[in-house]
Amino acid sequence: MFRRVVNAIEVLAVVAVAVFIIMLFANEPGSGGAAASSPGGMIFSANCASCHGANGEGAIGPKLAGVVVPAFPNPSDEITFVDHGRGIMPAFATTLSAAQIRDVVDYTRTELGK
Ligand code: HEC
Repeated sequence: MFRRVVNAIEVLAVVAVAVFIIMLFANEPGSGGAAASSPGGMIFSANCASCHGANGEGAIGPKLAGVVVPAFPNPSDEITFVDHGRGIMPAFATTLSAAQIRDVVDYTRTELGK
């Protein structure tokens, strides 16, 4: 009888540990939202989405998703545009580092809207 109770407790403990491990992996950051949690994606959400839309669909600023590569065949031209801004579009060279601008431009060309 005592042995059976111990067995039951052991089984419960093993199940509890298994559930705990599964939950650890289920909460792994990045599962499901890989694009939004990339460095460029986070910079975009914080600095660009207010005008260009969360998915680059356009709002105050023009649509970016799918249009920046034809508009700027050379990525360095898009970097220069974001550095300097134009009209309502602010210049970002003073608020973002060169590496951050490179990351966010890369994001608009590859992951934005996907
Ligand atoms: C205050 C609003 C605003 C913010 C914030 C903003 N933009 Fe813009 N953006 C604009 C406007 C307006 C234009 C159109 C400018 C023009 O052509 O005169 C534009 C144009 C652009 C273009 C050129 C699109 C094309 O097809 O010619 C790119 C690329 C761009 N923005 C990227 C970004 C990125 C990257 C960020 C964040 C780092 C950003 N913008 C933040 C308003 C904004």
